[in-house]
Amino acid sequence: MSIFESLVPSDEEISKQKQLLATLSRLINKEWPNSKLYLYGSCANSFGFSNSDIDLCLSIDEKEMSKVDIILKLAHILHAGNLRNIQALTRARVPIVKLMDPNTGLSCDICVNNLLAVVNTKLLRDYSRIDKRLRPLAFIVKHWAKSRCVNETYQGTLSSYAYVIMCIHYLQSQRILPCLQEMEPTYYVTVDNNICAYFDQVDKLNGFGAQCKDTLSRLLWGFFRYWAYAHNYTKDVISIRTGRTISKNMKDWTRRIGNDRHLICIEDPFETSHDLGRVVDNRSIWALREEFERAAEILHLDPNPSITLFEPY
Ligand code: CTP
Ligand code: MG
Repeated sequence: MSIFESLVPSDEEISKQKQLLATLSRLINKEWPNSKLYLYGSCANSFGFSNSDIDLCLSIDEKEMSKVDIILKLAHILHAGNLRNIQALTRARVPIVKLMDPNTGLSCDICVNNLLAVVNTKLLRDYSRIDKRLRPLAFIVKHWAKSRCVNETYQGTLSSYAYVIMCIHYLQSQRILPCLQEMEPTYYVTVDNNICAYFDQVDKLNGFGAQCKDTLSRLLWGFFRYWAYAHNYTKDVISIRTGRTISKNMKDWTRRIGNDRHLICIEDPFETSHDLGRVVDNRSIWALREEFERAAEILHLDPNPSITLFEPY
């Protein structure tokens, strides 16, 4: 818990994030009155560390303009608004504007019309409100992944988003978390033809996991044991949408197609054709699995795991 507490952002930091969101919204709304700026990713899903960059999404209905044109114009608006280090990354898979705000010292990335990310951010935040063990578990897993260099999608390892989903899956398997997408929906939106529906009145689920008394350390050990020894990498896909594993056969994720190898399969909860593990390749799958085994062994045998587990790679 003390490792978790050392990573949580302070109230001051959170108010600076809100201040930056307000400043940028004002600036952008002057030019585009019908647009809306959303906070998403770790600053909004409750799994953000102190000092993390801010992810923002501009929702805008500009039929005449391409995404790249919007990004370029956005960079121009921000430049005129005295923000610094502005870069328009128009050739990235998801085009973004990067910037730094000299008033708060915060850096952020702004993408355009990526509303699925805004919705999956809400899903993760809602899960974190059901059982108080999820947040510290995911923080420690993310901290471990960053320390051991297995949180780099461009090097074939997994995103922070994928790790949080892996934690939710594990807690669902332990009956500590329910499956919100299998319950009667109280929240319903359609984004780019994806229906996003789930039970979001999570205040009513307080105490859901109470019959399982496992401590945070036991769950952390269980999480790594699951990914080291119990998960069936050949046959299974983890799916927090259904609250269980489903077969690779059913999804037709059994062979390499293009660059997608499906060596570790993590279904996105809303964009269900998207395997969050698709970035993992023949080399990085073994690096990952060795790291899961190393972590499971440390938690099993090491007298001082809180140091060894996070030793820099
Ligand atoms: N996201 C997504 N699909 C992915 C990766 C990310 O929809 N394959 C979205 C999610 O909404 C996620 C956000 O982008 O919350 C940011 O992703 P990421 O940087 O992986 O996670 P953060 O929670 O921001 O973690 P970090 O603290 O490492 O920045
Ligand atoms: Mg982020």
